[in-house]
Amino acid sequence: MGMERKRKVSLLDVVDKSKITKINSGGFSSSVASGSIIGGGPGINSWTGRPYSQRYYEILVKRRDLPVWHQKEEFLQVFKSNQTVILVGETGSGKTTQIPQFVLEAIDIKTTPNKRKKMMVACTQPRRVAAMSVSRRVAEEMDVTIGEEVGYSIRFEDCSSARTVLKYLTDGMLLREAMTDPLLERYKVIILDEAHERTLATDVLFGLLKQVLTNRPDLKLVVMSATLEAEKFQSYFDAPLMKVPGRLHPVEIFYTEEPESDYLDAAIRTVVQIHTRETPGDVLVFLTGEEEIEDACRKITKKVAKMGDKVGPVKVVPLYSSLSPAMQQKIFEPAPPPVKESGPAGRKIVVSTNIAETSLTIDGIVYVVDPGFAKQKVYNPRVRVESLLVSPISKASAHQRSGRAGRTQPGKCFRLYTEKSFRNDLQPQTYPEMLRSNLANTVLTLKKMGINDLVHFDFMDAPAPETLMRALEALNYLGAIDDDGNLTKLGEIMSEFPLDPQMSKMLVVSPEFNCSNEILSISAMLSVPNCFVRPREAQKAADEAKARFGHIDGDHLTLLNVYHAYKQNNEDPLWCYENFINQRVLKAADNVRQQLVRIMARFNLRLCSTDFNSRDYYINIRKAMVAGYFMQVAHLERTGHYLTVKDNQVVHLHPSNCLDHKPEWVIYNEDVQTNSNYIRTVTYICGEWIIDIAPHYYDLTNFPLCEAKRVLEKLYKKWKKESRNC
Ligand SMILES: Nc1ncnc2c1ncn2[C@@H]1O[C@H](COP(=O)(O)OP(=O)(O)O)[C@@H](O)[C@H]1O
Ligand SMILES: [Mg+2]
Repeated sequence: MGMERKRKVSLLDVVDKSKITKINSGGFSSSVASGSIIGGGPGINSWTGRPYSQRYYEILVKRRDLPVWHQKEEFLQVFKSNQTVILVGETGSGKTTQIPQFVLEAIDIKTTPNKRKKMMVACTQPRRVAAMSVSRRVAEEMDVTIGEEVGYSIRFEDCSSARTVLKYLTDGMLLREAMTDPLLERYKVIILDEAHERTLATDVLFGLLKQVLTNRPDLKLVVMSATLEAEKFQSYFDAPLMKVPGRLHPVEIFYTEEPESDYLDAAIRTVVQIHTRETPGDVLVFLTGEEEIEDACRKITKKVAKMGDKVGPVKVVPLYSSLSPAMQQKIFEPAPPPVKESGPAGRKIVVSTNIAETSLTIDGIVYVVDPGFAKQKVYNPRVRVESLLVSPISKASAHQRSGRAGRTQPGKCFRLYTEKSFRNDLQPQTYPEMLRSNLANTVLTLKKMGINDLVHFDFMDAPAPETLMRALEALNYLGAIDDDGNLTKLGEIMSEFPLDPQMSKMLVVSPEFNCSNEILSISAMLSVPNCFVRPREAQKAADEAKARFGHIDGDHLTLLNVYHAYKQNNEDPLWCYENFINQRVLKAADNVRQQLVRIMARFNLRLCSTDFNSRDYYINIRKAMVAGYFMQVAHLERTGHYLTVKDNQVVHLHPSNCLDHKPEWVIYNEDVQTNSNYIRTVTYICGEWIIDIAPHYYDLTNFPLCEAKRVLEKLYKKWKKESRNC
């Protein structure tokens, strides 16, 4: 393999038997097979009143074989006698799909829909893909239609109904629900899944639920996690810990002898080598994001195709968060059969982000390729920059990744880094998101829930004081909290939008600029993935198509043009195809827009537009953007580069921008850090507007010395003179 075999690690060794609650290795009650979970009679599904389908029984056989089934009785016992239970188990042991069903069985939910209120079971997922995929699977397992008894809820998409008893939802959505229903009264049991991920929302839910549990003795909490830091959860919640030993087969680990300079290239090469030299078994490759994954899929397919029938056929499937549900489901399809009978075996190759690390289990993986990177959020409170960075993973992540190779049989993991690097460079655990995020949104949410004393909030890992201070400061500049830290009326409305506070502010004030319709469209377009398609074989045509939408004043307005054109062309899929626009993304944007309109209506925020022929049409839109994003402004220095205002960070316009010149002042939507610092989605604004719209932020008495300050000083002088003349 061109890689020296270094050592053999049996992952079985990792499970510390002494700490495992005694396993009831005996049989389990087989009541489910007869369909009598809640008294529906043999063979009758009591949720629907219909006989179970053939498919139900087929899946049931597989389900009963999952490790959690062997501890079902024990789990139910611990569950019944405790308010909180911590459950840890290897990925693939059946936690996410089975435990919520066990819980449903245990709490005896009324089967008539109108009695189901306050009876629901919630199961949180950090990732939207997982919430969607798992709920579909569980609906299938329970032989019900998705959206009825089993549903899911992710930001901007609710697939549940009055009949729903089990809802998979992102942790962020449960947090939003807690804003209007602080005691989460519609739930009888809350399952916080993938707790080891330590996402921002899950961490906040930890602290929140601890309070809710004392106020609601009838509520139960199950915290589920992969085998990481379990004892930390146990002591934080002061609850019993139950372990489900997985059935992990030994995994051989290989390291490269030398560091790889291009991990993408190395990953593709390794996959092709596995396919040509290794025994049958599917491959899982970890990469960092959509573009890279699509690129790798194409290259692998092409390289294998070139080899002709010397090697077996491959099915290369991508997996990342913005993939459509139909594409996501492909990861569960079997490997392709050999082209000829007795020909070389086919192989499935899944190329995934770290979603496949613990969130989704793919059976049949025997080989894992781990380049050692993942996109991670990082936040620097000093310069207030939050960005997604491709960063080295932790040892714990590397361990999880290699474990994916040993789910169904002994496997191999190829780490595309040296053993020395693994030992010396990788940190033991990934830092919780709480410690590396901008907390403005979290603080706003907590304030809305009436939690004012953030310093004494029971965080599992408290954020840095500087980060909290930055969040409060930003909310204060936005007018969401007053100088005493109390939520203002504006802040209350802002908190109702499932958006970052700057965008919420822009929306809430947009009627004052007579352009809420347009700001809604822009916000919707900013809330969905990139809508421009750029196929490798038609890059020039795609760039030309994009240029046709280009607006000279900037990318936000270009997005608005795309949205308008899509609507003017009646959302026609053919039009999208011909113009290199991703129709699914536009559809999603339209859906987001409708939901935002509903929130606007709830607060009587006017829907209005400036006359399209007026010269103020675009000016008003750009001014409304300044009202929200005045903290994300960059100034063009005489040296030709941009400096972010106040923080003085050197940034470049992202190459994707559509401006035909470099304006003196720009407003931007996000920071992107690769080999240099970029600002992406930028629009040209005027210096006069920022001092007019956000004078409190552009107060020069606390402004660092820089070119922008001198320019602003002149503008202020001019402004004063003009107002005297009026
Ligand atoms: N959509 C699906 N299609 C087929 N199998 C699935 C699907 N979702 C989950 N499974 C299977 O269900 C099993 C249990 O998975 P899960 O409950 O997610 O485990 P855990 O949460 O412990 O990691 C795995 O073998 C997985 O492959
Ligand atoms: Mg799971």
